[in-house]
Amino acid sequence: MNMDRIKVLVLENTQEERNTISEILSNVEYIILVGESDSEDEALDFIEDNSIDVVLLGANVGDDGYRVAEKLSTEYPEVAIIMMENDLKEETMHKAIFAGAKDVLIKPFTPSKLVDTIYRVNQLTKKKVLIHKESSTKARRKSTLGQVVTVFSTKGGVGKTFVSINLAVALAKNTGKRVVLVDLDLDFGNAALALNILPKFTLSDIVDDIRNIDADLIESYLIPHDSGIKVLPANAQPQLSEFINSEHIDIILRTLQSAFDYVVVDMPARFHEPVNPALAIADKLLVVTTPEVSTVRNVKAALITLNDLNYPKAKIRVILNRHDNRGEIKPKDVETTLGMSIFSTLAADYKDVISSLNQGIPIVIRNPRDTVTKDFISLAKKLVDDTGAKGHN
Ligand SMILES: Nc1ncnc2c1ncn2[C@@H]1O[C@H](COP(=O)(O)OP(=O)(O)OP(=O)(O)O)[C@@H](O)[C@H]1O
Ligand SMILES: [Mg+2]
Repeated sequence: MNMDRIKVLVLENTQEERNTISEILSNVEYIILVGESDSEDEALDFIEDNSIDVVLLGANVGDDGYRVAEKLSTEYPEVAIIMMENDLKEETMHKAIFAGAKDVLIKPFTPSKLVDTIYRVNQLTKKKVLIHKESSTKARRKSTLGQVVTVFSTKGGVGKTFVSINLAVALAKNTGKRVVLVDLDLDFGNAALALNILPKFTLSDIVDDIRNIDADLIESYLIPHDSGIKVLPANAQPQLSEFINSEHIDIILRTLQSAFDYVVVDMPARFHEPVNPALAIADKLLVVTTPEVSTVRNVKAALITLNDLNYPKAKIRVILNRHDNRGEIKPKDVETTLGMSIFSTLAADYKDVISSLNQGIPIVIRNPRDTVTKDFISLAKKLVDDTGAKGHN
């Protein structure tokens, strides 16, 4: 059984700390400690000769453990590095991620925390190496960048998620092109739920692998939906989202743009710094409103903020969702208040929209003859034809 055990190397400054780890690991059947050292050079030789799976690396080794981590992860990308830090500072996780480490243990850690972390990190790394090999063989390249369509509003509950999902599916059905839906509502993302898919991988998994990400690898993290679109879900555990920053989002969106014809982005109901790149990169920014006074006022304020930020007005398209001909507030009232014309309206349909979200079936598939489905198809067509404003990439 020796072959299947996880091979661990400890690289830490003091003998005492190395002994503690050695003692803990000696009790675990599926882990074998194959070496320990306090020297960077010795460790490099050791990894070379022993096909190590996991390196436990003290943050102060060789004066700067992160520099050592960077070297190790560049030379041996298949080896998983776990940093061991004295205390958790805000930048610790970022430093670790950028150095190519897979996780950080804060001292003192319990034996079970140590063992769990080794096991989990090893599993994930092995799986990723496998996926990487599989996906590299079916590489696909595009010469032109895809269009990024970002669906945004500062008002909650106006239908951003509903619009993102159905627009993505309508675009795929109408054009036969490659469409990916990205859920950037980092804290409350529910696009996966609304599509009834299990988020096997989420944004956090890609962020963990951000240094290796390319068009092929990112594809292996996406979840295929029956409709033909691919989905990148937000985190299942929102607490992980604090490790996601705007640099990550920028890299992820640009990579998706290189592999897909359309990248549809579902946004949170506020300006949220880490997801700003989705506004900046967007070719079209769909700003969603509904015909209620409080919503229109809120959206007006968002448009003013965008203007204050020098956001190009030419990219903005106003979408009036939950439109009802019998409603008190007419589309032209909305246009007057916003000072912009409405690009598309989407009909209110209280029965079918709720059932579609509850069942996790996009309405454009579930109810092909509904008015709102026709509205989505016309929105998709308009966007395809609308070459008005290309983003500045
Ligand atoms: N065209 C519509 N007709 C009827 N109901 C709708 C329509 N669009 C959305 N809704 C309803 O509005 C609710 C909110 O929709 P959705 O979750 O898509 O909004 P959101 O803007 O993404 O919300 P959040 O800000 O919480 O992310 C849903 O329960 C949905 O049933
Ligand atoms: Mg939403």
